[in-house]
Amino acid sequence: MTVSAIRIGAPATLDSLYLDQLPACAAPGPGEIHVRLRASSLNFHDFAVVTGILPAAAGRIPMSDGAGEVVAVGEGVTDYAPGDLVVSTFFTNWDDGAAPATAFTTVPGDGIDGYARTEITAPAGWFTPVPKGYSCAEAATLTCAGLTAWRALFVDGTVKPGSTVLVQGTGGVSIFALQMAKAAGARVIATSSSDAKLERLQAMGADGLINYKTEAAWGLKALELTGGAGVDCVVEIGGAGTLDQSMMAARVGGHVALIGVLAGFAGPVQTALLMAKNLRVQGLTVGSRAMQLAMIAGVEANGIRPIIDSHFPLADLAGAFRHQASNTHFGKIVVDI
Ligand SMILES: NC(=O)c1ccc[n+]([C@@H]2O[C@H](COP(=O)([O-])OP(=O)(O)OC[C@H]3O[C@@H](n4cnc5c(N)ncnc54)[C@H](OP(=O)(O)O)[C@@H]3O)[C@@H](O)[C@H]2O)c1
Repeated sequence: MTVSAIRIGAPATLDSLYLDQLPACAAPGPGEIHVRLRASSLNFHDFAVVTGILPAAAGRIPMSDGAGEVVAVGEGVTDYAPGDLVVSTFFTNWDDGAAPATAFTTVPGDGIDGYARTEITAPAGWFTPVPKGYSCAEAATLTCAGLTAWRALFVDGTVKPGSTVLVQGTGGVSIFALQMAKAAGARVIATSSSDAKLERLQAMGADGLINYKTEAAWGLKALELTGGAGVDCVVEIGGAGTLDQSMMAARVGGHVALIGVLAGFAGPVQTALLMAKNLRVQGLTVGSRAMQLAMIAGVEANGIRPIIDSHFPLADLAGAFRHQASNTHFGKIVVDI
């Protein structure tokens, strides 16, 4: 059966995304699995690829996240059997240990074709099992956003019961970070541009709330909410435009997980503040397959379920991205395949 896929046109815009038919998937070779994909989810990274903010080859199949059902396994594959549910890893060449030097060249939906398609035959190591009881839609939210939040808090960060974490906004990474930090017994200060979204954050257990639009010095406000001590860990998804306030919010010796670019790709840094507060600002790119397996054990043990804002069919991938660009979403936007 042919495989349906969405491809990026030239130039890359939401209007130039197009549906294509590919030849049927090959039977899985040694070490490979054939997967019927059921869901993907949107990340800002995918938005940047489909709109040309990040350059990608014309015709590239977008989307880094994919979850589905194993149809067949190749010789030597013992981890999976037909019928098992699997979820993709962000990097195809990072099993464990230090980050690979190949940046995004091995990332589905960026350097190589991604998961905006109905089927794929690929190495079994490009996937992990989904958490027990998760649907494919839920699992497809974990590859990029879930693992990034997990790594920020528990791999690069040392968040534990009693820690204070600051999360920015209500996108995929930040909502996962809120859920995971609360599950670990941490206090969470959450920001948003919307008072209605702040109410939802409070209902999810956020201990401190700040509207970063009406409170420009939200870092100082966060400091105040901790009695002047500062937060242990900031999940920094803004980048250049938010880093100063994040450093302001952090405690002496705190950790800023430098993740995003929503408020700019480059800019001046208050180096004296960074030094004076003995801060550790650590950049990160998602994580390894080993980290994904640890995250899956973590979400299973704590009953964490993703907050899914909305579902769009694959054929309306552009509509899903328009919804993301409206910034009205809360949590993850899923594409059903
Ligand atoms: N380095 C990595 O490994 C990695 C992995 C995943 C994501 N990221 C990056 O992390 C960022 C978030 O990604 P995502 O997929 O979670 O995005 P997303 O779901 O599209 O999140 C968008 C939300 O972020 C909030 N936001 C936007 N500008 C903000 C600002 N200046 N200050 C605070 N919050 C702001 C808004 O929340 P409100 O509407 O509540 O204001 C907005 O709704 C992106 O830059 C992405 O590239 C990096």
